[in-house]
Amino acid sequence: MMARACRSQKQIKWVRSVDKHFLPNRVEPRFFMAVPYVFINVGTVFLWLMKNHVHKLIKQINKHNSFRNNCLNLVTSENLMSPLTRLAISSDLGNRYTVGRINHRWYAGNHYFDKIESTAANLARKLFHAKYVNLQPTSGMVANMVAFYALLQPGDLLLSLRTKDTGHYSHAKNNLLSLFGVRVASLPFDRKEFTIDLEKAKKTIHRKKPKVVLLGTSEFLFPTPLKELRKICDHTGTKILYDAAHVAGLIAGQTFQDPLGEGADMISTSTNKTLSGPSHGLVACKNIKQYRKKIERALVPMFTSNHHAHHVTGLAITLAEFEKYGHEYAVQVIKNAQALAQALYKFGLEVICPHKNFTRSHTVLIDVKKSGDETMRLLEKANIIVNSFQLPWNKISDQTGIRIGTNEVTRLGMREEEMKQIAKFISDVLLKRKSIKEIRKGVIDFRKSFLKMYYC
Ligand SMILES: Cc1ncc(COP(=O)(O)O)c(C=O)c1O
Repeated sequence: MMARACRSQKQIKWVRSVDKHFLPNRVEPRFFMAVPYVFINVGTVFLWLMKNHVHKLIKQINKHNSFRNNCLNLVTSENLMSPLTRLAISSDLGNRYTVGRINHRWYAGNHYFDKIESTAANLARKLFHAKYVNLQPTSGMVANMVAFYALLQPGDLLLSLRTKDTGHYSHAKNNLLSLFGVRVASLPFDRKEFTIDLEKAKKTIHRKKPKVVLLGTSEFLFPTPLKELRKICDHTGTKILYDAAHVAGLIAGQTFQDPLGEGADMISTSTNKTLSGPSHGLVACKNIKQYRKKIERALVPMFTSNHHAHHVTGLAITLAEFEKYGHEYAVQVIKNAQALAQALYKFGLEVICPHKNFTRSHTVLIDVKKSGDETMRLLEKANIIVNSFQLPWNKISDQTGIRIGTNEVTRLGMREEEMKQIAKFISDVLLKRKSIKEIRKGVIDFRKSFLKMYYC
């Protein structure tokens, strides 16, 4: 069954009346018509300069919007917000200070926002099967720092995947962790299976007795063997932190894995990747007594003051949409990723993990065997937007990985059939079967049929 498009005319009219940036529209610089040109004096020159800057900026915004609406946006960490989420983030809430907890703010005027943040927290608790959720981290990176502060002390040992083994740089040695005095050692990674090497991880955990094992990656192909790791960590009293930044939408859609149910002590995540909300973060856990105070203290006064009420509000709307349509969306994202991977593989590209049906998430990984950066730029010329990354067998200087996500194209209503066409565009570029100009024309034509948004 095809998902319902987000097309209630009344709803869209309402959004358009408030948010003219909805989808591919131009921003009308009508404001400038009111600029008085009558006297040449300092004020007029200032207005003229401002007009010039603002005018140029609006032109760039329009160009960007139009370009991205003519592209296949396949970056695994991006997505499209629903019209109502966009409405929320452009509301007055973006101008307000909301420091403090729900019903205990440091500033007056937040009684409506108290209700909004509490609704968002209830929805997030339900979708992530948590007892406590904090929506105040302003990004996934901040959510990680908050979780580190809640779980670790100076001198403690953290085990995490190296960046070359798909770990994120916020999990690595040379960042805030070392400033905290936290020691970091590597979690063994199985390059063939593209997941944690359980046997080796067991030995490392038993030998090193880390305080925390950090799971979750930036090239997240398969669910993590959490239940097995929980058993291993129980022997050493090790806590498990699960970074769900990439797969939060699949988890909220109840299709990937249930980290807290399978034994993680805490989840940290960003909210704008598969979970198509505003750029923000959250942390969630089951044990309120043990972690709530530490999480709150990490936020104020450590990592935030104001926590971007408009983004929390937008996230509340996204979570409400996920409650209704999230499962259907997440299932289709994964089906699309598998269809895309199979088609790319059939065209002769070296897609990672053919023996495991390539992926169980939104992500498809290709080893292009030459500069990933140059390949990414070549695809960009054909209006296909991806990013390059370091495969575990690459040297830092010659990364050959290309990372592709189906999260955004699925929201535009694309399904398995369209994935075959996308695979054709990509392989035409990579295998140099057609001119880039011809492929770009094909992409622009193809994209014209996909301007509505679904699952909201
Ligand atoms: C695994 C992982 N954690 C955290 C982050 C940081 O998230 P954010 O960009 O929201 O700060 C990323 C970024 O892509 C990531 O891949």
